[in-house]
Amino acid sequence: MKFARCASGRSRIIAVEGSYHGLSMGALSITHSGNFREGFGPFLPDVSFVKHNDIEDLERHLKKKDVGAFIIELVQGKGVKIVADDYIKAARELCRKYGTLFISDEVQTGMGRTGKLFAYQHWDLDPDIITMAKALSGGYVPAAGFVTRREIYQKVYSRLDRCVVHSTTFGRNNLAMACGLATLNILEEEKLMENAAFRGEQLLNRLRGLQAKHDIIKEVRGKGLMLAIEFKEPASLKLKVAWKAIHAVDKGLFAQMIVTPLLQKHRILAQVAGHNMDVVKILPPLIIGDKEIDHFIHALDDAIQSIATFPGPVWDFGTNLVKAALKNGYASAGR
Ligand SMILES: Cc1ncc(COP(=O)(O)O)c(C=O)c1O
Repeated sequence: MKFARCASGRSRIIAVEGSYHGLSMGALSITHSGNFREGFGPFLPDVSFVKHNDIEDLERHLKKKDVGAFIIELVQGKGVKIVADDYIKAARELCRKYGTLFISDEVQTGMGRTGKLFAYQHWDLDPDIITMAKALSGGYVPAAGFVTRREIYQKVYSRLDRCVVHSTTFGRNNLAMACGLATLNILEEEKLMENAAFRGEQLLNRLRGLQAKHDIIKEVRGKGLMLAIEFKEPASLKLKVAWKAIHAVDKGLFAQMIVTPLLQKHRILAQVAGHNMDVVKILPPLIIGDKEIDHFIHALDDAIQSIATFPGPVWDFGTNLVKAALKNGYASAGR
């Protein structure tokens, strides 16, 4: 954000509704979810949020020519929402047209996760700035970084006395950089990006099979090994009532009822994809193979099957969560 402002001479940053860019003061200012923001304002001025996949909304903002950067997660970490092909190509062009830098936040999507080294490669984009972290060091040593064009870099470090305008204590840490190089090496040598692409397709197909079997699955989606299963109100009258009761307390509780048995019974770590959504996210290791995919699909099938039993242990678990939440004043906190 600092580099974009400095290089463009414009202060406004545009992010997308549903975005997650981090929780430090600057990053939180462009993170959309109220759940993360509550209690920490006021935030950076000159930040606007645009609707996901809405090109007219974006152009309305860019037209004013005060926007330094447009930052986007091509696959949003929260909810695993994927950009539409025509939208992102047009968005990139509009940024060029109005002099706005295009930032691809690849903290989660980078380093092979989506089946390519960076997600922007799926759309042949040419971002002005790319952010990366998480898998950059294979998870061993904290490492984060960004890549930008030389002319942007040189506008920031423009004179000798400005050579320290941006740095951090642990920046350029030798051990982290060595881990980063080793990670890049392994990604290539073990063909992990190819595996992520291939296994991702395989998983999506198997998930589509489960969708055909369970009406409670609304949609399955993903790019490489960043996948989501979205649930919807079931057709059966008995289950509808249970679904409504759970959602009346918290809109994110249902996904918890899938994720918890996956861990407790099947030893599989999945994630609730975000606040107030019925979405389970899976981020399998890039080395995943047939055996693990089989294990996961059977486990998920089993977890969804137990949802169909009402009353039953999964709904008891949900009810207990509701009771605990009510006791702690969770519902009244306005989530
Ligand atoms: C897309 C995205 N951007 C930024 C961040 C923030 O990274 P950090 O927690 O290292 O500040 C995250 C973390 O989850 C992320 O998923």
